[in-house]
Amino acid sequence: MAEVVLKNVCKRFGDVVAVDDVNLTIADREFVVIVGPSGCGKTTILRMVAGLEEITGGEIRIGDRMVNDLAPKDRNIAMVFQSYALYPHMNVFNNIAYGLKMRKIPKPERESLISKAATILNIENLMHRKPGQLSGGQRQRVALGRAIVRDPDVFLFDEPLSNLDAKLRLQTRTELKKLHERLQATAIYVTHDQVEAMTMGNRIVVVNKGAIQQVGSPLTVYRHPANQFVAGFIGSPAMNFIPCRLRRKMDATVLDNGDFSIPLAPALGKRLQATGENEFIFGIRPEDIMENNHNTQLPVDYPSFKAGVHVIEPLGKEISIDINTGEHTMTALVSSDSKLRLNDTIEMVLNMDKSRIFRTTTGETIGPD
Ligand SMILES: Nc1ncnc2c1ncn2[C@@H]1O[C@H](COP(=O)(O)OP(=O)(O)O)[C@@H](O)[C@H]1O
Ligand SMILES: [Mg+2]
Repeated sequence: MAEVVLKNVCKRFGDVVAVDDVNLTIADREFVVIVGPSGCGKTTILRMVAGLEEITGGEIRIGDRMVNDLAPKDRNIAMVFQSYALYPHMNVFNNIAYGLKMRKIPKPERESLISKAATILNIENLMHRKPGQLSGGQRQRVALGRAIVRDPDVFLFDEPLSNLDAKLRLQTRTELKKLHERLQATAIYVTHDQVEAMTMGNRIVVVNKGAIQQVGSPLTVYRHPANQFVAGFIGSPAMNFIPCRLRRKMDATVLDNGDFSIPLAPALGKRLQATGENEFIFGIRPEDIMENNHNTQLPVDYPSFKAGVHVIEPLGKEISIDINTGEHTMTALVSSDSKLRLNDTIEMVLNMDKSRIFRTTTGETIGPD
């Protein structure tokens, strides 16, 4: 049983707060992905779990043990890094065997562990090669092999795929997930790549500036981001943010962005008013701004507006366009069948069901649900 619990965990390097009051419980055998921009504290969190970095405050538990003062070698953890750190003068077999020898595992057992790992990773035919004779993907497997033979309670992965090219990264992602199912160990996987996080995690932990912003399934963080940071970080092309003023218009409350106004349901209007604030950020994803060709099947009162097409970027199955409404530029995705041309003026409509409204003051999501 290797549940991992971080309770009020903090890490300071001098004046730098690298990790700020992190609370997170990772269930036994769960695969959790921690995602956030470079410098947000991901590596520091992993290193503290591994025992390679002392914690400034809080508590870390692995299984039923408090490990704050436990040496790394006693935590039964294996960490796989971005740089594989293989010994260049040793062949694959010896690279994998090295840790086992250090731990005085007898030779027959050592060989059986290595052979099992080699089969799982499909590297049996590489055992006599040196790291210099391997491709990036093969080296990554060897690094994984070293971790697997230790039969750890917890695997820690620190951006292990970032040195691989795009295609191999995709393939290795899938393999890692399968591997996790076979190994039945708890895994904490760190990446700055939100696409990787979305595809790999059953549960994603979004971190910024050392603090957890949101924990949830990929769809939850995508559809119901807790704040503007998560909304902007998850999803590509990124969500559009349009600063708006709250106004009364006839009997209704609207968000006015200078170009057009966005009607609010009465309850939502009241909620925004109750903050006593005037300015909000309206968020809408590119795929939720559509050409108003009257087949969108959106309610007729959803806001539509005219915009000029400034940039056209074919992405393959879709076209990303930048449109300008006067005050604002937004990115929208349209079908690759679209006949749009640069400088066309088009009518667009917003899918309000998918929109988000954020408080300008705190960034937290305040609507629509
Ligand atoms: N040994 C260290 N000494 C001083 N500052 C550090 C040290 N390690 C990390 N930091 C700082 O802590 C913050 C988090 O770093 P890190 O955990 O490496 O981020 P990430 O892995 O998300 O890119 C950064 O501001 C980084 O500069
Ligand atoms: Mg890092």
